[in-house]
Amino acid sequence: MKTIAKITLGFAIALSATSVTMTFASAQKLTLYCSAQEDWCQLMAKGFEAETGIKVNMTRKSSGETFAQIKSEEANPKGDVWWGGTGDPHLQAAEEDLSQPYDSPMQGELNDWALMPAKSTGNKTIGIYSGALGYGYNEDLLKKANLPVPACWKDLLKPEYKGHVQMANPNSSGTAYTTLATIVQLFGEDEGFEFMKKLHVNINQYTKSGSAPIKAAGRGENTIGIVFMHDAVKQAVSGFPIKVVAPCEGTGYEIGSMSIIKGARNLDEAKKFYDWALTADVQSRALEVKAFQVMSNKGAKSSPSAPDLASIKLIDYDFKKYGSSDERKRLLKKWDEEVSVLPQ
Ligand code: F6P
Repeated sequence: MKTIAKITLGFAIALSATSVTMTFASAQKLTLYCSAQEDWCQLMAKGFEAETGIKVNMTRKSSGETFAQIKSEEANPKGDVWWGGTGDPHLQAAEEDLSQPYDSPMQGELNDWALMPAKSTGNKTIGIYSGALGYGYNEDLLKKANLPVPACWKDLLKPEYKGHVQMANPNSSGTAYTTLATIVQLFGEDEGFEFMKKLHVNINQYTKSGSAPIKAAGRGENTIGIVFMHDAVKQAVSGFPIKVVAPCEGTGYEIGSMSIIKGARNLDEAKKFYDWALTADVQSRALEVKAFQVMSNKGAKSSPSAPDLASIKLIDYDFKKYGSSDERKRLLKKWDEEVSVLPQ
């Protein structure tokens, strides 16, 4: 009797240990690298987790920083999906074989511009939103300092704005890299770098994240922030005294993108997230966190507060060139060596 009881007990323990192991092994999870605003990243991670039961481990870092992290993890990838952030470093990741193709069944619901990155990379990256670059200023601080109202890129070079302008570092931030590439495309490389050098004299701080300069302006700690216009609108509709400027010479724009990381450990979950993130319903939720980009799904809701891209003078931003590995590395190196080291 005793022996039978012992065997039965032993078997039961062994069985429960096995089922515990099985539960752990089959628990679905996803490691998400997010390069949009923190609140939007949280909304996406929590929303996906709630709807699918898949546990999301999310990290928010700026576009250039995330690219660098994925590159450094190349031999031992830890992330599954990179969602958000400017398209240029996503294109670079595709070229450097850091991301993998996925032909999502959601493609038919997307605007043509969102499919451009997919077409040029064999489906390694896709557009999730778009937005125009510009700047915003704190109206109260501008008046207090008796400064003129800026309307053009070149206005930002005026000596009276010294110490009043903030932008991010183009190495870490996709916003700031878009700024550098936009200025070079607008004015040509030589004049463009002269512009960046003169602008440097007026810059009070290069931040890590692209939207930080306009958040600082909203808090009254900075006067003018070079950012995507939608990030300035977010501050304005949140009640801060921020005015948004579409520069008179014209401006560049981003195709915010998403990629599945090559060697993703949770590939099925990554694909599930990818398709989910491209639905009209999920993209419409961006408005809950005042993310005013134009969404890639044709059926996603937009807000009347969002910048109207059709009324902004946009340049024909050359994503092929400025999203290429050689060009991005070259421009960043040149900026590091010729601009950032100059005295202010
Ligand atoms: O989410 C806001 C946003 O401006 C996006 O439109 C853009 O893709 C991203 O932030 C860029 O952030 P960063 O400049 O920090 O890389």
